[in-house]
Amino acid sequence: MRIGVLTAGGDCPGLNAVIRSIVHRAVADRQDEVIGFEDGFKGLLDGRYRQLDINSVSGILARGGTILGSSRLERDRLREACDNSEELIERLDLDALIPIGGEGTLTAARMLADAGLPVVGVPKTIDNDISATDRTFGFDTAVGVATEAMDRLKTTAESHQRVMVVEVMGRHAGWIALEAGMAAGAHAICIPERNFQVDDLVKMVEERFAREKRFALICIAEGAHPVEGSMPYEKGVIDQYGHERFVGVGNRLAVQLEHRLGKEAKPVILGHVQRGGTPTAYDRVLATRFGWHAVEAVHRGEFGRMTALRGTEIGMVPLADGVEQLKRVPQDRMDETEAVF
Ligand code: F6P
Repeated sequence: MRIGVLTAGGDCPGLNAVIRSIVHRAVADRQDEVIGFEDGFKGLLDGRYRQLDINSVSGILARGGTILGSSRLERDRLREACDNSEELIERLDLDALIPIGGEGTLTAARMLADAGLPVVGVPKTIDNDISATDRTFGFDTAVGVATEAMDRLKTTAESHQRVMVVEVMGRHAGWIALEAGMAAGAHAICIPERNFQVDDLVKMVEERFAREKRFALICIAEGAHPVEGSMPYEKGVIDQYGHERFVGVGNRLAVQLEHRLGKEAKPVILGHVQRGGTPTAYDRVLATRFGWHAVEAVHRGEFGRMTALRGTEIGMVPLADGVEQLKRVPQDRMDETEAVF
């Protein structure tokens, strides 16, 4: 079989592990041919690709980023491709396409599958917000990076009697903030699922200082919003990919807390450091399993589906299940946490 692979959307630790696994299973075990499209769907539409053999994936298991490159694609260009999908399949002479990506990529994958392309998706995102899979690879790495950063920030906050406001990634879902916040013992966690009340944060810090705990750590997701009217704040504009351009909620909250508390409050934006570098062992294993199962699904002809972790098993679910609704932090996960929300 001739199988195409691409990585699209934001990069994520573990992408190279999936590519390597697909090539190992397909080329070495199944005598398939694998081609890798460059820079996501752009490479697919422009016909830019390279042959992936065993040598080309040697040494990439632990490497961050993606050897294929990644990009986001405007929906209009993708619709154009779907309209011409028959010509696309013929031109590329593909038996299957494995797009590896998050919500946007899997939605695109679904559009292509609906248009008749033989597509098997592999979900990825550090945000862990793809429903239908218990976990996405990349998340464990991001949580580890954010936790380590907060462990370090706690000691300096305590030395200087400061409030640290640590902004982590998480556009629509607060999984990174929740889990890294819990792991680091943050005193407040602010996530997109529940608008935060600045008064509650002020009260929490004042109570801590009254108990001689003269520092505080607040972990806030980039997509969190304050309760309307609780502090000066306006949402960012929507970019060409349909994403809100964030205005820096961590910075704004720190300014507000400093003003209200009369204490130093320092913002720390972790940003892309959470996405770069080597994946954890957990992410390498999950990514490798996803790659293996994607090739098996191709050979079974299970198109229009994606790999998913359910408990400890990997299964295949319809792409639609993965993208129709985002997986967001439920109330009971907030209830289990002692931090202020
Ligand atoms: O979806 C993954 C993610 O890392 C989000 O957490 C974040 O909002 C977004 O990608 C950032 O994307 P970009 O790298 O395009 O700024």
